[in-house]
Amino acid sequence: MRTQQRIMVVFGTRPEAIKMAPLVRQLKKTEGIETILTVTAQHREMLDQVLDLFELTPDHDLNVMKPNQSVSQITTNVLLGMEKVLTAEKPDRILVHGDTTTTFASALAAFYQKIPVGHIEAGLRTYDRYSPYPEEMNRVLTGHIADLHFAPTIRNVNNLLAEGVPAAKIHQTGNTVIDALLDVAAKPFAFSEETLKDIDFDGRRVITVTCHRRENLGEHMEQIFSAIRDLSYNFTDVEVIYPVHMNPRVREIADRILRGVERVHLIEPLGYQPFVNLMARSYLIITDSGGMQEEAPALGKPVLVVRRETERPEAVEAGTVKLAGTNRDTIYRMAAELLTDQAVYDQMAKAVNPYGDGQACQRIVRVLMENGEEYHEF
Ligand code: UD1
Ligand code: UDP
Repeated sequence: MRTQQRIMVVFGTRPEAIKMAPLVRQLKKTEGIETILTVTAQHREMLDQVLDLFELTPDHDLNVMKPNQSVSQITTNVLLGMEKVLTAEKPDRILVHGDTTTTFASALAAFYQKIPVGHIEAGLRTYDRYSPYPEEMNRVLTGHIADLHFAPTIRNVNNLLAEGVPAAKIHQTGNTVIDALLDVAAKPFAFSEETLKDIDFDGRRVITVTCHRRENLGEHMEQIFSAIRDLSYNFTDVEVIYPVHMNPRVREIADRILRGVERVHLIEPLGYQPFVNLMARSYLIITDSGGMQEEAPALGKPVLVVRRETERPEAVEAGTVKLAGTNRDTIYRMAAELLTDQAVYDQMAKAVNPYGDGQACQRIVRVLMENGEEYHEF
């Protein structure tokens, strides 16, 4: 009988890397588990920023990123690449995260070789198959493949139970993003980026913006960026900091509508440590990111989510996140209210943390140890 459980962790994009990095570290510290790290590199530069920060060196790198890649290209290349890696490594289980195409295609590749799949950040749902697109379907399909489901919140657990997943296979752990956030936010930090070094964070109100979702590309993104331009024209004490996602389709719209606008700073994607510190020093956050809806409430920062729905309603219920949609006038009105009405602002700017206590990785590893006891010598 083998003494070690061989667990392969697979991820490919920036948010997966941020949320899986603390888990990889925890696994590597655990006796009885051998950890293999495979990155698909669905993202390249934005992934490498995270690998560098958490000092992770992948054992396998599929390097699949192509400029302007289609979802079919990613799926095919990940599926074929993972087939080779899984055949060579024969892990006892793989762990995937969330809802990207890396997540789904890696889970499928493991299923084809009858390798069990653990799904981290399981059970989030909008129940709209085209929003977020293709993430809602990626997450549902991955859930069907997985035999262990690590759900951040009780709502996520209940979603899975309602879909017929046996209770014994679901573990409520909190979200590993809080593990990552607490680790990074605790460290002393000073900005080295020129733009950020020059911002007077005490005298000015900073709005941090990010936007990248596929369903927002085109008309919706034009509306969102127009609202931000209107805000910067009308509120002269505001600085907008927008680290632009590397997707060329996002960059084209951001350049066209926001480049050169006074008080709007379009900058390159930030490493996770500067970005967390930027959020912590911001007045307000406007975003369509999933992960930032979990991080910003923990930092006590109001968030306007520029989407029509969210699979993360917990912080909306707690009052720190509002769904602003993608209409220019509505976004402007909601942001302007937060910039002018202190009572409305104070109501939103409270630290709440429905997504975890920073111990999610420990809980996940404990379950993996219990589940993998057949690999241990007694
Ligand atoms: C992907 C995920 C999305 C996740 C997001 C996080 C899918 C279908 N989408 O979306 O769920 O929320 O990542 O950011 O899985 N690019 C670079 N360098 C990078 C990263 C991206 O140049 O480091 C450019 C490439 O031209 C690439 C494009 O961005 O083709 C889009 O990347 P892709 O992974 O296809 O989709 P995202 O929109 O980033
Ligand atoms: N983030 C970062 N640098 C940036 C912008 C975002 O490190 O310039 C972090 C952010 O804190 C969050 C994650 O990246 O943890 C969000 O990634 P993204 O918006 O790409 O994906 P999503 O959360 O929508 O899946």
